[in-house]
Amino acid sequence: MAADKTLGIDLGTTNSGIAIVEAGDPQMLANNDGNRLTPSVVHYDEEGKALVGRRAIDREPAEPEQVVREIKRHMGEDGYTEAISGHEYTPTEISADILRKLKDDAESYLGDEPTEAVVTVPAYFTIDQTAATKDAAESAGFNETHLINEPTAAALAYGNGKDLNETLLVYDFGGGTLDISVIEVADDQYDVLATDGDNELGGADFDQVVMELLANRYEQEKGIKILDDEEVRAKLRVQAEKTKIDLSSDDETEALAPFLGQIEGDIIDLTEIDNTVTRETFEQKTADLRDRAIDPVGDALEKADLETGDIDTVLLVGGSTLIPSIQDRLEEFVGVEPTKTLDPDKIVAQGAAVYAQREIEAGYRCGVCGKEFDAMLSLNEHYDDAHTDDSSDDIECPYCEEVFDSDAEREAHVSKEHPDELTGAGTGITDIISHSLGTKLKDGSMDVIIDNGESTDDAVGVGEYTTTTDDQTRVTVGVYQGEHEQAEQNVKIGELQLTGIPPKPAGVPLIEVTYDYDSDGILHVEAVEKDSGETVDGEFDI
Ligand SMILES: Nc1ncnc2c1ncn2[C@@H]1O[C@H](COP(=O)(O)OP(=O)(O)OP(=O)(O)O)[C@@H](O)[C@H]1O
Ligand SMILES: [Mg+2]
Repeated sequence: MAADKTLGIDLGTTNSGIAIVEAGDPQMLANNDGNRLTPSVVHYDEEGKALVGRRAIDREPAEPEQVVREIKRHMGEDGYTEAISGHEYTPTEISADILRKLKDDAESYLGDEPTEAVVTVPAYFTIDQTAATKDAAESAGFNETHLINEPTAAALAYGNGKDLNETLLVYDFGGGTLDISVIEVADDQYDVLATDGDNELGGADFDQVVMELLANRYEQEKGIKILDDEEVRAKLRVQAEKTKIDLSSDDETEALAPFLGQIEGDIIDLTEIDNTVTRETFEQKTADLRDRAIDPVGDALEKADLETGDIDTVLLVGGSTLIPSIQDRLEEFVGVEPTKTLDPDKIVAQGAAVYAQREIEAGYRCGVCGKEFDAMLSLNEHYDDAHTDDSSDDIECPYCEEVFDSDAEREAHVSKEHPDELTGAGTGITDIISHSLGTKLKDGSMDVIIDNGESTDDAVGVGEYTTTTDDQTRVTVGVYQGEHEQAEQNVKIGELQLTGIPPKPAGVPLIEVTYDYDSDGILHVEAVEKDSGETVDGEFDI
């Protein structure tokens, strides 16, 4: 296996996974336990050594205070740390430990150290959250990291190898978040039309309902409150999740946990109470959560200017879409039976691998027979073997048959003269701006220059401003991302200083600020004072 494979990584709230494309198909790689999903759970010992995945979960009941879960919810949060055994771990450090484990597992499988990765992030992530994710990948040892949005990755995995011409609704319901995207696919081009969702809703909320149900029964039957004890709660959470998962395939199940710990000398034993949970009870108790999970679908369609009848395919992503009542309500609402051909909890990592192959790992097509190769070296070997006669030692261009003195010269020639023969060029994806971009006015409010929801393809906006004091010669253009009316409540991307404004009474100069977002994720900002032509500009990677 080539060492230059780019890994596709789904860094999930609950579970993470790695995939690569082999023979055109994205494949999940097994971790060292033989599983294709690695729980995003980290245990730190006193020395700061990290254990990631199943082994961290195994230690959780005994040492819950040394275990971190769902750190993705805190990515990019200023000042947030997890204090364990006297160490303060940042979300970036904890995520780096998860990524390092995934990378090590991939290395055992591939035999070589992978150095590049495509990591998926939720569509709603802000610049702080994506920057924290990139930093984590860098400290995990990846030299180069590309980020793509999770729903887009899912669509790519679904469309891989198919000639799709349809409108997809990607419904991603994971452990901590709900992400919905409407994506139009035509001629191998993926256009995100709208996104919506709920950052505060996921499978963990369903677990919580089951936990409360069992804890209430325990209190009623035994008179003991069990949710206040940390160890008992950790074990009950595991049991509640199992119960929930069982109910996706069974009509009823028993929460069989004979030992959840001890509270004031009493052994907490779920088998001593009524521990049967039926799907009917589960559905009744989670009806509100289910409704909250369906409402954003209508909002996403509205933003995309579509009706339910316009959706051709509903693509299920994320473990929580395995809950039958979610699938049923979704089908009822959209009127299309959700597609179940792909594994909902693996499709995001697979899509990241597809992206890696399509967009990053350039391929080379033989000019004679059209066969494709990962590396130019393999193409040249193939060309020399298959298409030149044995007696010749000539180093020929596989496209125009020009002859060179060395392989290096031949490679340089091909890159320069035959760029169209390279596959994997061009992104083929247009996304939408997920957070509004604007600037701060004198009163602190946010003046939006590019609205969220606009296509990244043609996102340009202009704002007109002036000075607020007489003879003011400089202004600061703060660049912010977010929906809050107060700029400081949003994420600051950077700022520019426009100087050299000719002294005039307040309100007279006209300062035009242009935001231009390109599909590589770069925001170009330019501020011009119209009278003098004084200009300042800058680029921000967002
Ligand atoms: N068969 C099942 N039935 C119901 N829920 C399930 C099933 N299998 C997994 N889940 C739930 O799916 C959730 C994890 O889903 P997934 O691995 O897609 O999340 P994630 O990608 O880590 O999270 P996010 O996308 O929010 O970052 C957990 O809450 C888990 O309990
Ligand atoms: Mg996910």
